[in-house]
Amino acid sequence: MKVCVVGTGYVGLVTGACLAEVGHQVICMDDDVGKIRVLRDGGMPIYEPHLEGIVKRTVAAGRLHFTADVAEAVRDAAAIFICVNTPPLPDGEADLSYVELATRRIAEHATRSPLIIEKSTVPVQTGAWIEKTLAVYGRRPGVEFDVASNPEFTREGMAVEDFLHPDRIVVGVGSARAEEILRELYAPIVEGRFRCPVHADCRQDRAVPFLVTDIRSAELIKHASNSFLALKVSFANALADVCELAGGDVLQVTKGVGLDKRIGRAFLNAGIGFGGSCFPKDLKAFVKIAEKSGYDFALLKEVERINDRRREMVLEKLKRALWILRGKRIGLFGLAFKPDTDDVRQAPALAIARRLLEEGAEVRGYDPQAGRKAAQALPELTVCGDPYEAAARAEAVVLCTEWAEFRELDWARVKAQMVRPLILDGRNALDRGQLMALGFEYIGVGRQQSREPRAESREARGER
Ligand code: UDX
Ligand code: UDX
Repeated sequence: MKVCVVGTGYVGLVTGACLAEVGHQVICMDDDVGKIRVLRDGGMPIYEPHLEGIVKRTVAAGRLHFTADVAEAVRDAAAIFICVNTPPLPDGEADLSYVELATRRIAEHATRSPLIIEKSTVPVQTGAWIEKTLAVYGRRPGVEFDVASNPEFTREGMAVEDFLHPDRIVVGVGSARAEEILRELYAPIVEGRFRCPVHADCRQDRAVPFLVTDIRSAELIKHASNSFLALKVSFANALADVCELAGGDVLQVTKGVGLDKRIGRAFLNAGIGFGGSCFPKDLKAFVKIAEKSGYDFALLKEVERINDRRREMVLEKLKRALWILRGKRIGLFGLAFKPDTDDVRQAPALAIARRLLEEGAEVRGYDPQAGRKAAQALPELTVCGDPYEAAARAEAVVLCTEWAEFRELDWARVKAQMVRPLILDGRNALDRGQLMALGFEYIGVGRQQSREPRAESREARGER
């Protein structure tokens, strides 16, 4: 099928490349000419595991193209995805002006009565606005538009895996034709008819659930899913505080709680809180949508409040250990909002860095992928080329992002660099026993200062 993707960011590029990988003919469009040039020259504007190989392969096969020309992009497409960004406005509401602009341009240039699919995360009723916009700007003989909502559930760092092996595909449609097009588009993924670029021994023996709903329900599913996941994280963080106050170990508590299949262990990792381009923005937007519809979503307001408090928790722990922060050097391990991505949007690490700088500390950070973007976002932060440099003459190191690399470090070498060997493990991801045996002072989140450390970490965090 001829597919067009408008907006070639994290979501758009993954969507376009993966649809080309499973056999469709895809053209990705973006107004950022620099980004298009990078992609055309064989480069990658973002770091996302497996994506580069897919892009290279599908471009070489002639199934994936890039353009900055919207008319060329939408002209012949049967399905057009809207993947432009929807940033928050000052009051928390999503800014939908890029979605409207994309819709108007599609309306002006499409020739083949395409299906317009909103993939950007948008508030409920956006589909209806897209329909109205198309009716105003796209009135031309022989061209009719259909609209659908197809929310994305891809995690950064796992985006290719999530796109090709999703837990479910949700499509919100208003017509049989729209459903038919989406079924055809996703058939290779639903039926496992593609060569998996992620797992060499991939056994695609499970059909992917394909859920068809009305457009508004699909829009709500996206916000409800992200809000619920954020709620789980904040619940775990609240539990961590209770564990510290009442005695108990949040790793053991969440393991015990998570073994109940109705609850599940995923997204119960306590730490410095959630960030990224989705959870913080989507929570705010969902609270706002509810408010506009007449419902006070106080539950989600509290989820946000608990998360905001996590940065202060780090400052409080450091002050308890170091007394004065002014003039002291603090190393941050991990700057991305989570591992396996170079994305620093709403990264807790940067929020912590800002607070430390306000307190007069000197902050040096290292990240395996996000260093460049972090330096752009926060020029006062000194970004180092390796973790040992970030730890040099530091009075404490805070682990902000649980990259696998940090588990494998030469921690004796880290210790040798530091003025005081203090580790604040902001993700409970390190081996406390090993670090304490090396002579580190170890502070975790939601855990007692144990004198008899036991080997724990990855397994206790619910990771494979
Ligand atoms: C997406 C969704 O759009 C957002 O709603 C969701 O919650 C998260 O994922 P993302 O792909 O992360 O956002 O955004 P970004 O990487 O900023 O990509 C958006 C792209 O659209 C950019 O490359 C931008 O240049 C492009 N764009 C935006 C246009 O080409 N034209 C526009 O008018 C606006
Ligand atoms: C999220 C959703 O998971 C995805 O389905 C949606 O399409 C986009 O938004 P993403 O933002 O890439 O994906 O990251 P995710 O893995 O969900 O993590 C979000 C934040 O929560 C990260 O900062 C992460 O560190 C934090 N988190 C996650 C925790 O603090 N604890 C956990 O147990 C899980």
